[in-house]
Amino acid sequence: MAKLRLGVLASHNGSNMRALHRASLAADGLFEVAIVLSNNSGSGALEYAREHGVSARHMSGRTHPDPVALDDAIRAVLVEHEVGLVVTAGYMRKLGPGVRSEFSGRIINIHPALLPKHGGHGMWGIRVHEAVLAAGDAVSGPSVHLVDEEYDTGAVLAQREVPVLAGDSAESLAARVLAAEHDLLPRVVADIAREHAARASR
Ligand code: GRF
Repeated sequence: MAKLRLGVLASHNGSNMRALHRASLAADGLFEVAIVLSNNSGSGALEYAREHGVSARHMSGRTHPDPVALDDAIRAVLVEHEVGLVVTAGYMRKLGPGVRSEFSGRIINIHPALLPKHGGHGMWGIRVHEAVLAAGDAVSGPSVHLVDEEYDTGAVLAQREVPVLAGDSAESLAARVLAAEHDLLPRVVADIAREHAARASR
């Protein structure tokens, strides 16, 4: 079966990347994390990848001061690792045009709110959950969507509703949404991996 190879980009903790890695071990060869990239040399994502024998690279404005060279280097590393699907999960940088065109239609992102609500430039981290509470929404939850040239505007592939509870703080809501992310993202990736395998066997 044609295994779907993932290139996962993460800036900080990398808990979604870890959820993907764990799921890949349980998914009976459907997909695997081929490479983890981070713009942050001290990220938990890189540390975990190295500890688990997954290729890991720090690539940022520090390693590649020219943005065009950085875009090209990221593209080249993903191609070199035969990546079939790019997953941005807590990646705090915009992907460059080279990566976007090389992997057109094959880049997904996870966002911690029900898009199109509470997305766009500057809407990341705890701010998203603060906005949900300020809006008085009764439900929130993660969205997995295709990445285009804007922030959080690509087609939504899947969402998971999570209740907003009375007395929620942005932090308690964030934790509930993050737990749902860890279930939703591997499921979406597994679905894409099944389509990939079906296409390859035709
Ligand atoms: C997640 O909430 C994700 O939706 C958002 O950034 C956070 C990343 O968390 N884009 P982690 O690094 O995967 O733990």
